[in-house]
Amino acid sequence: MIKKYIYGNPFPTDAVVKDIAKSEDKLPFFETDNNGTFTFGLSEDDIVYGLGEQIRGINKRGWQYVSWNYDNPNHHEDARSLYGSHNFIIISGRQTFGAFFDYAGRMEFDIGYTRRSKMQIKAEKNDLIVYIITGENEKDIVKQFRQLIGKSYIPPLWAFGYGQSRWGYKNEQDIRTVARQYKASGIPLDSIYLDIDYMEHYKDFTVDRERFTDLGKLTADMKAQGIRLVPIIDAGVKIEKGYDIYEEGVQNNYFCKNADGGDFVGAVWPGRVHFPDFLQPRARKWFGKKYSVLTKLGIEGFWNDMNEPAIFYTEDRLADTCAEIENLTSGNMGIDEYFAFTGMVAGLNGNIGDYDKFYHNINGRMINHREVHNLYGMNMTRSAFEALQEICPEKRTLFFSRSSYIGAHRYGGIWQGDNKSWWSHILQSMQQLPALNMAGFLFTGSDTGGFGCDTTEDLVLRWLQYSLFTPLFRNHSAEGTRMQELYCFDNVNAAAEMIKIRYRLIPYLYSEFLKAALNDEMMFRPLAFDFHDDPMAKQVDDQLLLGNELMIAPVYRQNAQGRYVYLPEEMMLIRMKSSNEHITEILPKGHHYVDIALDELVFFIRSKKSVPFGKAAYNTSEIDMNSLDLLGYPDSSYVLYSDNGISPVSDDSLSISELRK
Ligand code: GLC
Repeated sequence: MIKKYIYGNPFPTDAVVKDIAKSEDKLPFFETDNNGTFTFGLSEDDIVYGLGEQIRGINKRGWQYVSWNYDNPNHHEDARSLYGSHNFIIISGRQTFGAFFDYAGRMEFDIGYTRRSKMQIKAEKNDLIVYIITGENEKDIVKQFRQLIGKSYIPPLWAFGYGQSRWGYKNEQDIRTVARQYKASGIPLDSIYLDIDYMEHYKDFTVDRERFTDLGKLTADMKAQGIRLVPIIDAGVKIEKGYDIYEEGVQNNYFCKNADGGDFVGAVWPGRVHFPDFLQPRARKWFGKKYSVLTKLGIEGFWNDMNEPAIFYTEDRLADTCAEIENLTSGNMGIDEYFAFTGMVAGLNGNIGDYDKFYHNINGRMINHREVHNLYGMNMTRSAFEALQEICPEKRTLFFSRSSYIGAHRYGGIWQGDNKSWWSHILQSMQQLPALNMAGFLFTGSDTGGFGCDTTEDLVLRWLQYSLFTPLFRNHSAEGTRMQELYCFDNVNAAAEMIKIRYRLIPYLYSEFLKAALNDEMMFRPLAFDFHDDPMAKQVDDQLLLGNELMIAPVYRQNAQGRYVYLPEEMMLIRMKSSNEHITEILPKGHHYVDIALDELVFFIRSKKSVPFGKAAYNTSEIDMNSLDLLGYPDSSYVLYSDNGISPVSDDSLSISELRK
């Protein structure tokens, strides 16, 4: 059952698609001061799940989180905000219920941080809607919530293939080299990503003709090899006389405004930019149509970036900072001045004060950005999704975004942002998956190998062994870091085998993805969601259930040659050193130490179940959904969901069949 409580005058976020009557009774579970604060007493055993893209464990207890979409390149343990705001939690314990705080501005979730036994949720203003969801168990609560927020986005099948990306491919030759090297190394590949360097001076919807002489031809040549190019689109539009997007935006008032009515200026990769007012339907429509500049060249997928929006600095703050620094440095600089100086410089990027300076035109009313901040990225992806549905309605386009709010899951996926080549970030990515799925984000994954910092071969291999299970499977790294294309390392063969195993698993992953999307379920779940009465299952936060048949328990520590795994029931261990051989072993319920060599993949099939396993494929176009083996327990069966992988999914296009072993 879902109940809706309205406080003040909430801004419509469009997170929810179902009409629900307002409840007149008193808000259950929480105490509220009617001033935006909601308090709940936590008992010792309560677990708090959710908050989507956030740091820390699957159980969110013991920290303070802030919903404020933020370009945070340091996903440290003490971070409070990342790129998305997903204000949905489930409290599981003495009382089990879900709560969604539908609020577009800044919101704090103090989950036993100030007081261990108290959860205090605080919206900056008392203008929000609270939904309380009760149900049989966590899965049921999630299902009801997902029905409330609408169906998750389904990308084309090719988006489940492996993708290679790097910020630093400078020209057409670099792209062709990646394709050639993957082919030469016998590693399957479905996509290569174009980061900001394909653009002319980082201007959206332009192509640098010197470095990419003919993007249409490059796209076609790649497609002939089964590789799609996926360009990036950034939120900020470069201020440059004569640049059509800039000129049209200014002329038609499509950009966010200053208090005095002028177009707001921030600085991002292109230098000085204006930000499209994605909250205005007419601006969304205009910007969305521009994607056709690239679809006309054969492009079928995009990633939307810097759409929190990220602001490196604003000119007035920069000027003030420079003046202050001059002040500080005019005398003898002491320690205090030194720290004031470094603090001021670091404080330019994403300074919360800058978000107070601009406005959105909502039906003629100027709304301060701070009040609707968390909706910006979502509406950028919405702009692209809605336009592309008109431009090429016959096929699904790949979209994923960095920034998001609940509701964005209907328009595209998200990637988990700028992680680092750190072992802890394998675990962090994994721990976000169930919370993201709760919030409707099914198409997601991390920058495999790590984005920032230098990677190592063993980290890449272990990361592959985890992320080959995630729907978005992309290797991406930052400019200036060590190259991490799989052919750069000694044991190319081990990496190649991991990718080949991914391709054999795609029929299963795709089928479970479709089931999760169409039936409003979670593809990745904590063990406790399925093994509710098992107290040990509640403790496990480095293993996940994947679909209804698998459990994954990857290695995420350097130099580990295996790990402890908890089995909440008897399971079949599958061990693969290569894509065409596997060893099975039945393990009883309980704790086990499992050896997992660096070049081995280990995963678990749940009791009496089996998973479809395709024939070897170098590209998703080669996957034959009609020729599948079943891997797992004898006498088991599997219900396969499949379609043509391209057209919008409907009852007519979907095929559901039962496979028997
Ligand atoms: C941002 C993105 C990253 C991209 C870089 C350059 O940091 O998160 O993925 O490579 O910008 O465009």
